[in-house]
Amino acid sequence: MNARKVDLEAADVLVLFGATGDLAKKKLFPALYSMALNDSLRCPVVGVASTKWDHAQFASNAFEAIHQAYPNPDPKIMAQLDEDLSLVVGNYEDSKLYEDLAEALKDKQSPVIYLAIPPAFFGNVTQGLAAVGLTERCRLVVEKPFGRDLHSAVALQDVLETVLPEDRIYRIDHYLGKESVEDILIFRFANSIWEPLWNHRYINSVQITMAEDFGVEGRGAFYDGVGAIRDVLQNHLLQVLALIAMEPPSDLTSDRMEDEKLKVFRAMAALKPEHVIRGQYVGYLDEAGVAPRSTTETYAAAIMHVDNWRWSGVPFYLRTGKNLQESTLEVIIEFKQPPRLLFAETQEGSANLLRFRLGKNDGVDIELQAKSPGDHLKTEPVKLTVNFSAALGERQEAYERLLRAAMAGDHMRFTHIDSVLETWRIVEGVINNEPHLSPYFKGTWGPDSADELPAAGWLEL
Ligand code: BG6
Repeated sequence: MNARKVDLEAADVLVLFGATGDLAKKKLFPALYSMALNDSLRCPVVGVASTKWDHAQFASNAFEAIHQAYPNPDPKIMAQLDEDLSLVVGNYEDSKLYEDLAEALKDKQSPVIYLAIPPAFFGNVTQGLAAVGLTERCRLVVEKPFGRDLHSAVALQDVLETVLPEDRIYRIDHYLGKESVEDILIFRFANSIWEPLWNHRYINSVQITMAEDFGVEGRGAFYDGVGAIRDVLQNHLLQVLALIAMEPPSDLTSDRMEDEKLKVFRAMAALKPEHVIRGQYVGYLDEAGVAPRSTTETYAAAIMHVDNWRWSGVPFYLRTGKNLQESTLEVIIEFKQPPRLLFAETQEGSANLLRFRLGKNDGVDIELQAKSPGDHLKTEPVKLTVNFSAALGERQEAYERLLRAAMAGDHMRFTHIDSVLETWRIVEGVINNEPHLSPYFKGTWGPDSADELPAAGWLEL
């Protein structure tokens, strides 16, 4: 079957594969409620699942999820959602499921089909949709990770592109839906004061941390086949790195953004085992769903370089882990030390820092040196802090923005296949040739060996 281009119009139905699953409960139903509240959900929602629930069970599970995120939901919106929700039940491997779905969608011209299911099913489900003609007119949203390495990502893309053109595929990396992450673009390119400093002459290092103070939380079976490199580093962290490192795009369309991100990824060498530390928290092997002798990493740290004229010689440190000391998502730009002649007594480590706080209560901090009080001319670090929600109001949730974008046919916040393949190329050398695994205790900052990355100097978060 040949992939055919169709005119994109607003979605007239949203189909959620994995509608009884974890992601739907935690993120998608609250997002749908919020969309209904601000009048941006204007179509029915058809869930697809293998769990044999009836409408009442399905709706009550969705409502419970909404109540958790919004303790006092608007009853009119909830009644509307109840009417708009329906469920198609069946086995993802069985052609009957796709026939039932095609029947449920027979009057719909522009379905958006969201695969919130384990990645291993993406290929088969897409073929099932194609067999009943749905890929002729649908947009397909696929969750990450897209493949489990370069080879499988290429194979999955082959399946998708036989039945769908690229402009109807939406690959999720929900970090691209975070307003705090998008703010990096605004910060860099809507202000002129940073550009002269944004290069190897003034920047000493870039450190990107995504830490969580909780473990696999019931997702052991999924996580054990994935690990921190595939779950977070290959996608979320490299996407953040690209926004920090890229040149300004010539406009904000998805294609021009992709051009610039690709140049960054192409300027990065494939990781070697000596550039990566892998860790596993003590107690991981007792988690439900985890193999008894699993060597899956729950922590990964890496040193990387973007080998171009702007960034030559600047180390980018990336790290992520579960059950660490705190939950945080930060980028720290560490500027070079000024000549120390005048302020010889200034403490080491007092370079200017620019912190993007991208997690909850996101904002920016700039650490500067100021004159400390007294007769002397000593310096002391001070912090200029902005909390964006206090200054500008509440952010929208990432999944709400992504659902809305896919339903409106906007690709800006989704990853392109070229970048996905480049990021797999970058991590390929450490997922096929895994570096040594070090244990770490819960509540710490990961294995001690993370301090031994070449020239690693983690700054305090
Ligand atoms: C997901 C990972 O993509 O991102 C999870 O699969 C992780 O393991 C989550 O917990 C973190 O997302 P956020 O938005 O809370 O930073």
